[in-house]
Amino acid sequence: MIEVVVVPKKTAAEDICVFELARPDGAALPPFSAGAHIDVHLSNGIIRQYSLCNHPDESHRYEIGVLKDPASRGGSLAMHQQISEGDRIQISEPRNHFPLAHEARRSLLFAGGIGVTPILCMAERLAHAGAEFEMHYCTRSPVRTAFIERIQASAFANQVQFHFDDGDAAQKLDAARLLATPTPGTHVYVCGPGGFMEHVLNTAQAQNWPAEQVHREYFAAAPVDHSSDGSFEIKLSSTGQVFEIPADKTVIEVLEEHDIEIPFSCESGVCGTCLTRIIEGEPDHRDYFLTESERAMNDQFTPCCSRAKTPRLVLDI
Ligand code: FES
Repeated sequence: MIEVVVVPKKTAAEDICVFELARPDGAALPPFSAGAHIDVHLSNGIIRQYSLCNHPDESHRYEIGVLKDPASRGGSLAMHQQISEGDRIQISEPRNHFPLAHEARRSLLFAGGIGVTPILCMAERLAHAGAEFEMHYCTRSPVRTAFIERIQASAFANQVQFHFDDGDAAQKLDAARLLATPTPGTHVYVCGPGGFMEHVLNTAQAQNWPAEQVHREYFAAAPVDHSSDGSFEIKLSSTGQVFEIPADKTVIEVLEEHDIEIPFSCESGVCGTCLTRIIEGEPDHRDYFLTESERAMNDQFTPCCSRAKTPRLVLDI
């Protein structure tokens, strides 16, 4: 854990705040690469992940952007309402599940709303390295577009196209055209709300982009329909204990009730913190973290949200 101080907190667009975080003594922070995120530990016990959006060569600060989400489960509201300039907060070291592919000859970056944070960091990095890239940034309107001035004033401004929902048809994102031809060496990166991600990812898939050239990061899980959830059992391989997981509880919740702790953070299958090995049984994957090939192996799952297709899972705990 690292203690940082908020220096400062600024409004970056309607409902979006940017927090600049530095060590209280001004010492260097651990290095990070484009696409990395940190965990922010809030006083209400909630841990949330936020992508770093400053230039990865900077070591004196981290910058994160936070959207006040009306469907917030406590994280974004606490960041907006309870954290002020000068406050000290605890964060993790940066981790990166959404890195740039070093072998890319060209990068196509797609950002939707607050999903711009890791994408902007990537654009900064690619521009600095003189790499070929194009960024498409979709938002509802200019007033809801964080970092618009920073991007317009940047050296890579002419490589960025803005697409506003309330703008005319000619400027709308045309993913089918942009992704018309899968090109060897071109890598696609997507971050944004569920519907936006689905649109870009489905378009890429329909136009036969190889999966290894398409990279994604979900920052929030889509609402899940739990109406058909059933119960199942888990068995801990170390002790042989068996627990019933009822339809309305997660594996983590049941284990916590029995003082068995699995580290967790987002509680929605986004961050991968709770990843647990499976020794027997088939999971019902509900996460956004594992790749399709990792899921198909069925040897690990995210107990914060995933369930079981078989009556019992034996876990490596
Ligand atoms: Fe984030 Fe489970 S806690 S994936």
